[in-house]
Amino acid sequence: MCGIVGYLGNRDCTSVLMDGLEKLEYRGYDSAGIAVFEGREIKTVKTRGKLSAMREKLEREGKPSGHCGIGHTRWATHGEPSDINSHPHSNGRVTIVHNGIIENYAELKEFLTEQGYTFLSQTDSEVVACLLDYYYAERNPLHAITETLKELRGSYALGMIFKDFPDRVYAARRGSPLIVGMGSGEGFIASDIPAFLKYTKEYVLLDDNEIVRLDNDGTRFFDVHGKPVTKDVQTAEWDVEQAQKCGFPHYMLKEIHEQPDVVQKTLDSLVKDGVPDLTGIGLTDDMLRGFQRVYITACGTAMYAGIVAKYAIEKLARVPVAVEIASEFRYMDPIVGEGDLVIVVSQSGETADTKAALELAKSRGAKTLAVVNVKYSAIARLADICINTLAGLEIAVASTKAYSVQIVSLYLLAFRFAYARGIISENELKRLTAQLEKTPETIRSVIEHSDECQFAASQLINTETLFFIGRGFDYALSLEGSLKLKEISYIHSEAYAAGELKHGTISLIEQNIPVITIATQRHVLEKTISNMEEVKARGAYIIALCRKGTTFADGTVDLKLELDFGELDDMLVPLPTVCALQLIAYYSSVLRGNDPDKPRNLAKSVTTE
Ligand code: G6P
Repeated sequence: MCGIVGYLGNRDCTSVLMDGLEKLEYRGYDSAGIAVFEGREIKTVKTRGKLSAMREKLEREGKPSGHCGIGHTRWATHGEPSDINSHPHSNGRVTIVHNGIIENYAELKEFLTEQGYTFLSQTDSEVVACLLDYYYAERNPLHAITETLKELRGSYALGMIFKDFPDRVYAARRGSPLIVGMGSGEGFIASDIPAFLKYTKEYVLLDDNEIVRLDNDGTRFFDVHGKPVTKDVQTAEWDVEQAQKCGFPHYMLKEIHEQPDVVQKTLDSLVKDGVPDLTGIGLTDDMLRGFQRVYITACGTAMYAGIVAKYAIEKLARVPVAVEIASEFRYMDPIVGEGDLVIVVSQSGETADTKAALELAKSRGAKTLAVVNVKYSAIARLADICINTLAGLEIAVASTKAYSVQIVSLYLLAFRFAYARGIISENELKRLTAQLEKTPETIRSVIEHSDECQFAASQLINTETLFFIGRGFDYALSLEGSLKLKEISYIHSEAYAAGELKHGTISLIEQNIPVITIATQRHVLEKTISNMEEVKARGAYIIALCRKGTTFADGTVDLKLELDFGELDDMLVPLPTVCALQLIAYYSSVLRGNDPDKPRNLAKSVTTE
C-alpha cells in the first residue's frame, strides 16, 4: 500500500526521498511523487508508474534542489493510477501525502466546494490538503492540523508541508503506520524503518492521533489537541544489509534462503531447556488449560499458516480451532468471548482487516495472541500477548520466510498447549521440540536442491491453469503453494483437498493440465495416490512432491520431486516442503519474465479494508 517519506536536514532532499521511496517499493504501488522546497517555492514532481518513470521525469524536468520535502508511492484506491491522482496533492497553501482512506471524503468535498475550493484529482486525499488550507486561516500549521484531524473519518498517515514554513515537515497518523527517524541534525518520517535505516537506526513510533513536527530546532511531538507529548526513542535491530539483496537477483530468493537461519532464531527465542517456554511472553500453562476454543484469524499467507496451526493444535491439544479470514471474521458476528483464545497472525502487523478482527475479539472479552513479525506494529502493540517472530525484514511482496517462522511459532504453541492440557507427556513434549529443532537442517537440504524446483517450474512455462492437491497438512500446504504461484507467476491455480476434487472440480481436468500433488503424509498416502490416479486417468500432468523413497505405480507421476526430510515427523514436513513450493513459484515467475519481488496489483502491507 502507499508509502510515505519526509525529510528535513542538510542532505539533498530529493535523493533522500527517492532513496526512501525505493526502500518502500515492497509495499506495492502504481505511482509516485515528491514535493520539495526550492527556496520558498514548493516544487512537485509526480507520475503514474514505477520509480524508474519518476527518475526519468526528474531527469527531464530537473530535480528539485532543497533540504525539506515529502514523497509518496501510491497504491490506487480512489481514482485510477494517473499523474493527477498521484501524490503529493496541493491545494491552497498546503501540500500533503496520504496513506489510508478518508471515509467521509465525499461530504468534506461537498463542504469545501461550497467554500469555493476546486479539486483536481479524484482522490479522497486531496480533501485533506483543502481542509488544512481552510483551517490555516491563522497561519498556524499545528492549529490547522488539529482542527482537520477532528473532521477526518477513516485511516490515515499524513505527511504535510506548509508554503510559509520551508523548513518544517509535519506528520500525523490514525490507523496507518508512521515512524519518525531521529537523525543527528536531521529528521525523517516514513511508513517503515527501511526508508531511513541508511541514515539512522533511532526511531520514534507515532501513536494514533499524534502529530510530529520536524524543524531546525529538532523533532517535537503533540497530541491531537496540539499539546506537547514526550516519546521514547528506540533503536532498530535491523541493519542496512537486511534491506539489500546481498548478491541474490531478487529479495524473494534471498528471503527463501534465509529460512534455515530465521527458523533457528525463532526456535531459540521460544525454546528453553528443550521445551517451548511461553511464560516469557505471558502465556502460562494455566491459561492454556483454561481455553475452550481457539480462533485463528488472518489474511493471505498468514491465514494459511493458521490452517497448518489448526491441524497441529487440534491433533495434539484436542481443542477446537476455527480459522477465519479476517475480513470475514470482523463482520460475521462471531461467537467469541471469554474463555476463547483468538490468535491473529500477521507479518506486517498492520493489515487493516486483521487489526480490526483483533479489536473485535478484544472487545468481546477473548484473550488475544498476536503472532507478528514487526514488533513495533499496531497489531503487536494491541494484542494481549505477542509472539514476535524473528524473520527480520521481509521485503518481497510474496511472503516466504515470515510464513515459516509463523508456523514454527504455532507448532511450539501447539506442543505446549497439548502438554499444558495433559494430553502429551513431558517426554513427548521434548521429543516433538527436538524434532522441530531439526527443521532448519531439512529446510537447508530442500533449498540446496533448488535446481529440481527450477526444472518443475520450467514444465509450467506454457500453463494457463493448474491445481494443487493434498490431504491434511499437505492440503494446508497446497493452499499456500497455490497462492504463492498465483501471486507472482500469474498462472491461475486452485488448491483442493485431494479427496474433494472429484466433487466437481475434476471436470476441469483435461489433457496436460498440471496437478501438483503434495504427498508427504504417510497415513493418507494411499488415499492421495488414488486421487492422483483419478486425475491421471483424465490426462493430468502430475508433479508429485514426496518424501525421499516414496514409490508410485508406473505411469502415475510425470515428475517426482523427492524431498529429504530425514526422520522428521509427518506433522512437521510442511516446513521444508513449503520451501520447494516457494522455489517453484519463484522460478515460474522469473521464467515468465515477471518481477517476483513486485507482483502486479499486490501490496505487501494492506492497510485498507
Ligand atoms: C497482503 C500480502 C500477502 C500477505 C497478506 C497478509 O495481501 O500481499 O502476501 O500474506 O497481505 O499480510 P500480513 O502482513 O498481515 O501477514
